[in-house]
Amino acid sequence: MRASIPPTILLAFVQLVSAATSVDFDPLQHVNLFIGTINGGNTFPGATVPHGMVKVGMDTDGNNFAGYDARPQFNVTGFSQLHQSGTGGAVPLSNFKLFPVPQCSAFEQCLTTIAARKTLRNILPDGSPDDFASPGYFSTNLSTGVRVELTATRRTALHRYTFPANSTTPRILLDITNDGQVSGILPELTIDPMSGRMQASANFATSFGFARYDAYACVDFRGEGYSFDGPTEWGPYKINYPDKNGVDLLQHYYSLGSEHGGLMSFPKNPSGTSTILARVGISFVSTAQACENAEEEIPQFDFAQVLANSEHQWRDILGRVQVDSTGVDKDTVTMLYSSLYRTHIVPGDYTGENAKWKSAEPYYDAFYCNWDTYRTLFPLMSLHDPENFARIVRGMIDIQKHEGWLPEGREAGQQQFIQGGSHGDPILGEFFVKYSKQAASLGVSATDLYNALLADAENTPPNWNLQGRQADVWKTKDGVERKLSTPDTTYPGGANTKQVSRAIEYAFDDFAISQVAKTLGKKADAKKYAGRAQNYHNSWNANVSLDVPGFFNGSVSGFFQPKFANGTWNFTDPRHCSVHDPAQATCFLNAIRRDGFYESSPIVYSQYVPQDTANLIALQGGNELFIERLNWIFNQSYFDSTNEPSQQIPFMYHYANAPGLSTQRSRQVISAAFNTSLNGLPGNDDSGAMASYVFFYLAGMYPLPATKQILLSSPYFPSISFTNPLLKKTTTIKVTNFVGNPSDGTGGTVFVKSVKVNGKAYKSNCYLEWDVFTSGSTVELELTDDINVTCGKGKDALPPSLSTGGYD
Ligand SMILES: *[C@@H]1O[C@H](CO)[C@@H](O)[C@H](O)[C@H]1NC(C)=O
Ligand SMILES: *[C@@H]1O[C@H](CO)[C@@H](O)[C@H](O)[C@H]1NC(C)=O
Ligand SMILES: *[C@@H]1O[C@H](CO)[C@@H](O)[C@H](O)[C@H]1NC(C)=O
Ligand SMILES: *[C@@H]1O[C@H](CO)[C@@H](O)[C@H](O)[C@H]1NC(C)=O
Ligand SMILES: *[C@@H]1O[C@H](CO)[C@@H](O)[C@H](O)[C@H]1NC(C)=O
Ligand SMILES: *[C@@H]1O[C@H](CO)[C@@H](O)[C@H](O)[C@H]1NC(C)=O
Ligand SMILES: *[C@@H]1O[C@H](CO)[C@@H](O)[C@H](O)[C@H]1NC(C)=O
Ligand SMILES: *[C@@H]1O[C@H](CO)[C@@H](O)[C@H](O)[C@H]1NC(C)=O
Ligand SMILES: *[C@@H]1O[C@H](CO)[C@@H](O)[C@H](O)[C@H]1NC(C)=O
Ligand SMILES: *[C@@H]1O[C@H](CO)[C@@H](O)[C@H](O)[C@H]1NC(C)=O
Repeated sequence: MRASIPPTILLAFVQLVSAATSVDFDPLQHVNLFIGTINGGNTFPGATVPHGMVKVGMDTDGNNFAGYDARPQFNVTGFSQLHQSGTGGAVPLSNFKLFPVPQCSAFEQCLTTIAARKTLRNILPDGSPDDFASPGYFSTNLSTGVRVELTATRRTALHRYTFPANSTTPRILLDITNDGQVSGILPELTIDPMSGRMQASANFATSFGFARYDAYACVDFRGEGYSFDGPTEWGPYKINYPDKNGVDLLQHYYSLGSEHGGLMSFPKNPSGTSTILARVGISFVSTAQACENAEEEIPQFDFAQVLANSEHQWRDILGRVQVDSTGVDKDTVTMLYSSLYRTHIVPGDYTGENAKWKSAEPYYDAFYCNWDTYRTLFPLMSLHDPENFARIVRGMIDIQKHEGWLPEGREAGQQQFIQGGSHGDPILGEFFVKYSKQAASLGVSATDLYNALLADAENTPPNWNLQGRQADVWKTKDGVERKLSTPDTTYPGGANTKQVSRAIEYAFDDFAISQVAKTLGKKADAKKYAGRAQNYHNSWNANVSLDVPGFFNGSVSGFFQPKFANGTWNFTDPRHCSVHDPAQATCFLNAIRRDGFYESSPIVYSQYVPQDTANLIALQGGNELFIERLNWIFNQSYFDSTNEPSQQIPFMYHYANAPGLSTQRSRQVISAAFNTSLNGLPGNDDSGAMASYVFFYLAGMYPLPATKQILLSSPYFPSISFTNPLLKKTTTIKVTNFVGNPSDGTGGTVFVKSVKVNGKAYKSNCYLEWDVFTSGSTVELELTDDINVTCGKGKDALPPSLSTGGYD
C-alpha cells in the first residue's frame, strides 16, 4: 500500500504558492495511516474527520480490531462505517458493511454471506495490496476489478464504487448483522424501490462490556457521470438468498438467520465506466435521524468536496505543530505527524447521537479507556487543541450529571469496564489546571466540573467495575487498599480485584482533584485530597525483597504489595505479570486473579507515584539506588513499551537529577519499539494513547497531567513549535546546536546543557512551566554529548513533588 501525496494536495499547493515560504510544508504529506495495522497495533487507516463519529474503512478477515489488515493474504469482507482505533476486547463497531458485487448470473444467484463474497485485493509488484490512505481518504482496488474510495463527514460516510467495464449489472449489498463480532440481532431493513433508499437497524454487542446498543443506517445511491432514477432490482437477503423485489426484511423470511442485509442492482453507465456513490448516514437514535444526518452533511454526493473539507480540518489541526526538519530523517517527521494524527481519531463527537437523554451540551463517546489516555493524550491536547478538549470535558461532565459518575470506558453510549481508578479525574484536572481562566468562555462550568470530580471521589457507584471507584472503601480513615473489593462474581470477566494498582491510581486521581481545588481557592479541599494522594504509602511494603544478581548487592527491596482484610500483608511476587514471572501470569481483565495488579508487574507499579516521585526516591533509598533500580528495570526488560503504566519510567531519572539518562532511555525506547512500518507499534495504540506518548518523546517532553509542569528533554528536531489557537500564541523550542539524532538512541549530542526562555537563563533544565506555552515563548536549548548533565543548581531546578513542596 502507499501513503503519499493526498489527492487534493496538488490543488492545495497551487493555492498556497503565493503565501509565505514556510507554508509549502503540508502536514498531510507526512501522515502514514498504515502504521500499526498489523502486529496488534489495531490502528484504523480509513477515512474520518478529526474526532468524527463515522470512521469509514475497509474490513478484512485478518485480526486487526479496527477492521483493516495490511497483509495481502487477507480477504476484504466489506466497507463499514464506524470503528475504533487501537483497542482490545472484542472487534468493535464494524457496522453496516457495504460490498460491491460486480458480477452474478442473476439477482437471486448473488452470494451475499461473508464467506461467499469475500475477495482479495489487487496485489502490487512489491507484494503489498493496492491500498492507499491519507487523512480523510481511503481507496483500494479489489481483485474483482472494482475500485473503492471512501471519505466522510462527522456522521456520514461517502463511498465511491467504480465497477470494471465487464460488469454488466453493478450491484452493492448492505450487510446489517455482521459488525465484526457477528453480534447483530433484531435486524430491520426497509427498501424504497423508487429512490433505492435502504433504512436499516440492528442491536449489537459492545466490545469491552456486557451492554448492547442499537445503531441505525440510511443508505442512498447516485450514479457519478450518469444518472438513474433508482435500482433495477432490490431486495433483502438472508444468508445466500436474496429475495428479489422484497421491500421489508421482516416480511420476507419466516425465521431469521445470522446474516442479513439488502442487495441492489443498478443500471450500467451507457457511456462509460459505471461509478456509483453510496451515502451512508449513521445514527444511534433512529433511522430517520440517520437519513437527516446524511442529507444535512452530504446533500450533493460531492466526493471531492467532502474530501476537501475533511483535509481542510486535518490540515488545520495538524498544522498547529510545525517542525524544522533540517538534518532529520524523513521517517522521524512521519512518525511525529502520524502520531499526532492518531490522537485525533477518538474520542468521537457523537453530539446529537445520545439515545439516552437530550442535552444542549456536546456528547462525546468512544472513551477506550481513560486509563490509557489520561497520561499523555489529553496533555498533548492542552498544547494545541484546547477547544476540542473543552468540548470533550463538557460532554464528560454532562454524562456525570445524568449517570452520576464521569465516564471511564465507553462505547456506543454504554459503560464499559473500568481498568483502574477514575481517570476522568486527571483528564478534567488537566483541563482545569491549565485552562481555568478560559473555562467559562469555553462553556465549561467550574462548579459542575468540580462537582463531577467530587462525585467520583466521594460517591460509591452500584457497580464500580463499570462506573468508577470504590469510594466508600477508599474513604475509610487510611484508605487502605486491602479493603478494596474482593472479586465479585456478579460481574464475571471484569471484576477482578486489582486492588493494589487501583489504590495507587486512586491516589493520583485525588492528587488531580487537589490541584483543581487549589486552583479554585478551596484550601481545605486541596489539603484533604493532597492528603489522600499520599495513601499509596499504605501499600508500600519495605520488607519484600527480590534477588537480583548483578545489581545492587544482589537484592532489591521495597514494593507495592496487597494486604489481607485483617491488615497483614499478603504476598505477590514482584515479577508477577512481567516477562520474568515464574507463573507466566497475565494481568488482563479476563484473568481470574487476586494478586492485586492490572496489566503490569508490581515492579512497574512500584515506580508509579507521579505526584510525589521525590518521596518514591526516598522509599527506594535515595538518588543512587533509585537510578540503579531504573537501570535494573530496563536491563531486565521489566519496562514494557506496550503498556501505559511503564510510560513515564524512562523520564524518571529527571527526579534524581540525572536528566541525561532520561534523554537516552526515552530515545532508546523509540528506536527499539516505534517506527513507521506496518508493525511499527509494539502493541495496541490504545485510542491514541501510545501515539501521544511517542509524540511527546519525539518532541523532547513528558507531561504530568493536572499540573503546570512538563518535563523537558531534547526534541528530535532543530525546532518544534506549538500554536495554541485559543490563546493565539506560538511557542517554539529551538536547539541552538542541533547535529542530528543517534539512530539507536544511544549517545549523541542530545543532552540538555542549558535552557533559555525568551533569551534569559531558565530556572531548570528539566522542566518547563505551563506559562512558557501560554505566553508564546522561544525556548532555546544548548545540547552537549555529556550524558552527566543535571537539572541545574537553583532550588527550583528539580521537577516538583508533593513532599518537597511542589505544585504550590
Ligand atoms: C481469501 O479468499 C481466498 C479465496 O476464497 C482463499 O483461498 C483464501 O484462503 C482466503 N484467505 C484467508 C486468509 O482466509
Ligand atoms: C487503483 O486503480 C486506479 C486505476 O484504476 C489507480 O488510479 C489507483 O492508483 C489504484 N490504487 C488505489 C489504491 O486506488
Ligand atoms: C472483469 O475485469 C476485471 C479487470 O478489469 C477482472 O479483474 C475481472 O476478473 C473480470 N471479471 C470477469 C468476470 O471477467
Ligand atoms: C519490616 O520489618 C521490620 C522488622 O521486622 C518491621 O519492624 C516493619 O514493621 C516491617 N515493615 C513492614 C512494612 O511490614
Ligand atoms: C550494599 O552493601 C554495602 C556494604 O555492606 C552497603 O553499604 C550498601 O548500603 C548496600 N547497598 C544496598 C543497596 O543494599
Ligand atoms: C490475616 O488473614 C490471613 C488470610 O486470611 C491469615 O492467613 C492470617 O493468619 C491473618 N493474620 C492475622 C494476624 O490474623
Ligand atoms: C493472596 O495472594 C495470593 C497470591 O497472589 C492469592 O492467590 C490469594 O488469593 C491472596 N489472598 C487473598 C485473601 O487475597
Ligand atoms: C545488563 O547488565 C549486564 C551487567 O551489567 C550487562 O552485561 C548487560 O549488557 C546489560 N544488558 C542490557 C540489555 O543492558
Ligand atoms: C518496528 O517496530 C516494531 C514494533 O516494536 C518492531 O517489531 C520492528 O522490529 C521494528 N522494525 C524496524 C525496522 O525497526
Ligand atoms: C558520566 O558519569 C559516569 C559515572 O559517574 C562516568 O563513568 C562517565 O565517564 C561520565 N561521562 C562523562 C562524559 O563525563
